Amino acid sequence: MTSRYHQVYESWKRDPEGFWAEAASAIDWFKRWDKVFDADAGVYGRWFAGAECNTCHNAVDRHVAGGRADQTALIHDSAITGTQRRFTYRELKDEVTALAAVLQDQGVAKGDRVIIYMPMVAEAAFAMLACARLGAIHSVVFGGFAAKELATRIDDSTPKLVVSASCGLEPGRVVSYKPLLDGAIELARHKPERCIILQRPQQGCDMIAGRDVDYAEAVAAARAAGRDVPCVPVAATDPLYVLYTSGTTGQPKGVVRDNGGHMVALHWSMGNQYGVRPGEVFWAASDVGWVVGHSYIVYAPLLAGCTTILFEGKPVGTPDAGTFWRVIAEHKVAALFTAPTAFRAIKKEDPKGEYVRKYDLSGFRTLFLAGERADPETIKWAEAQLGVPVIDHWWQTETGSPISNNPMGLGMLPVKYGSPAVPMPGYDVQVLDDAGHPVAAGTLGNVVVKLPLPPGCLPTLWNADQRFIDSYLSEFPGYYKTADAGFIDAENYLFIMARTDDIINVAGHRLSTGGMEEVIAEHPDVAECAVIGIHDEMKGQVPCGFVVLNSGVTRDIGTIEREIVALVRERIGPVAALKLVVTIKRLPKTRSGKILRGTMQKIADKEAWAMPATIDDPAILDEITAALNDRGIGI
Ligand code: COA
Ligand code: AMP
Repeated sequence: MTSRYHQVYESWKRDPEGFWAEAASAIDWFKRWDKVFDADAGVYGRWFAGAECNTCHNAVDRHVAGGRADQTALIHDSAITGTQRRFTYRELKDEVTALAAVLQDQGVAKGDRVIIYMPMVAEAAFAMLACARLGAIHSVVFGGFAAKELATRIDDSTPKLVVSASCGLEPGRVVSYKPLLDGAIELARHKPERCIILQRPQQGCDMIAGRDVDYAEAVAAARAAGRDVPCVPVAATDPLYVLYTSGTTGQPKGVVRDNGGHMVALHWSMGNQYGVRPGEVFWAASDVGWVVGHSYIVYAPLLAGCTTILFEGKPVGTPDAGTFWRVIAEHKVAALFTAPTAFRAIKKEDPKGEYVRKYDLSGFRTLFLAGERADPETIKWAEAQLGVPVIDHWWQTETGSPISNNPMGLGMLPVKYGSPAVPMPGYDVQVLDDAGHPVAAGTLGNVVVKLPLPPGCLPTLWNADQRFIDSYLSEFPGYYKTADAGFIDAENYLFIMARTDDIINVAGHRLSTGGMEEVIAEHPDVAECAVIGIHDEMKGQVPCGFVVLNSGVTRDIGTIEREIVALVRERIGPVAALKLVVTIKRLPKTRSGKILRGTMQKIADKEAWAMPATIDDPAILDEITAALNDRGIGI
């Protein structure tokens, strides 16, 4: 089939408002918009201004009323506990309504914030949808973040209430959530009034009288009372959620997502980009704490009337490298979305794909990869093993859905290895040099998107319009800065090569090296430090911390390095994955005092590097090389 992509992309370019108005007809609106796009509202304009809607209505109630009441909406598959739970759309509505009643009884109303700090349990999705039902704004915090990170998010979003659980489950380890939650609330200046705690059978927790509410008991009481909670109409431009993502400092950025534009963009993407039809099974093997989990575990599949899978486990070790194939076969998954790192982990354990052949994958059509650069080797391996198209696509927390993709629903375009394909409707992607001039095809530069951003993208940062402007809009006036470097070839295929800021991508997780440096600098023996991302076979990148100790420190260096690793784990959380700290005498700097992180990274990754002309003292780079070589790095 010839792809309709070019025709559809051109139709968007010709008439963006007409294009999105037509896409919006797939959504139920309580009140139609006054303007498809109001260029005078918000920072760069707002989509569907004047419209009223409710995301929970479109994701749940509409399907119950529209003939999907008995279709499975959500499957919780835990490869760690070996259990499965299924919820039809009717049951999902029941769960969500009961929890919404509990939240309402605790005083949560439209516009209030609710933090959700939960492991991969179905109740995490119920909590998100219950907030959406009430018009409350959820902020999900990934379970791999520690108390201090949670506290920062509590202070920034000032939630009325937190929904959490007694524990999360990592392979071979129970993660006690409650002490982290209690610790975060103690650290935070803002004190949420209530915490609704799901007690998991694997490990319970103590409850604080007067503050903590038992999830199961409260929901059972709401159900027994026959509480009905209708979907609250909200403005299309009202926030559905705030999702914090790493910025260039330790202070995360609160990405705001609206209700109306988000629904339109996600619904359009399911059919046209992912090629998945209502009633089919879609699986995003991510975590609800990341944007992929928000968009493609919870909202998009449900908005489209699909069955979604919420998977608790890892691609390997729970129990083996065949878990993904087991889930695909057992639940008849049509399309899987995960990060390339998951496939590198599987390939390492099962290079010949022996587990693949143990399962019936005949219903499986497409594998989508995003979150980090998909290396061609991994793509080719996955194609060979699975015999289905493997699609690299590119997006960010900020955009909420793909900027570029190979749109399976419009007809697949030829794959170019190393490229996440072509811009999606809504995105006029360009590459500019540092002075803001367009570069020729094939030339590396700053990847930017011409304003306005399409529906579903962040309209601003939570309570921080100026930070939004400073971070994304001011460097290239008229454009949104993606902070990715890359190029566009003569056929308009994008190639995303690296970040232009200090963000690194570890196992598909977005982390700020600046944030880690802030923590390391707190260690009493540390005078100076720099964190860089170095190449890792499985995780893509891992952080490597360089530290210069205060003069006169005589303590054992190995002990100090271990303390630093522990400090980062305690402050940021295990997800930071900092395992390597190297003590050096001095950091390489330019004469103006800028640390030469790029050169350090090239040395560690054994890439060609040139002596920076402005370096203060070239001998320092030999010291760095020797220190890394001592650890077996860069040899
Ligand atoms: N709660 C508590 N701890 C968590 C956690 C959570 N929700 N998620 C991860 N962690 C911990 C891990 O247990 C690990 O701890 P350790 O240092 O004690 O081993 C640490 O954080 C680092 O986690 P991670 O980087 O994910 O490494 P891993 O070795 O556990 O798993 C992969 C590696 C590649 C298998 C895994 O990252 C993966 O499946 N990634 C692909 C899917 C994905 O999550 N993509 C994200 C966006 S699409
Ligand atoms: P996050 O906000 O966590 O989704 O991370 C977004 C960042 O991940 C992007 O800015 C890119 O740097 C990187 N990224 C995501 N998908 C891809 C991809 N397909 N190819 C290259 N980089 C990617």
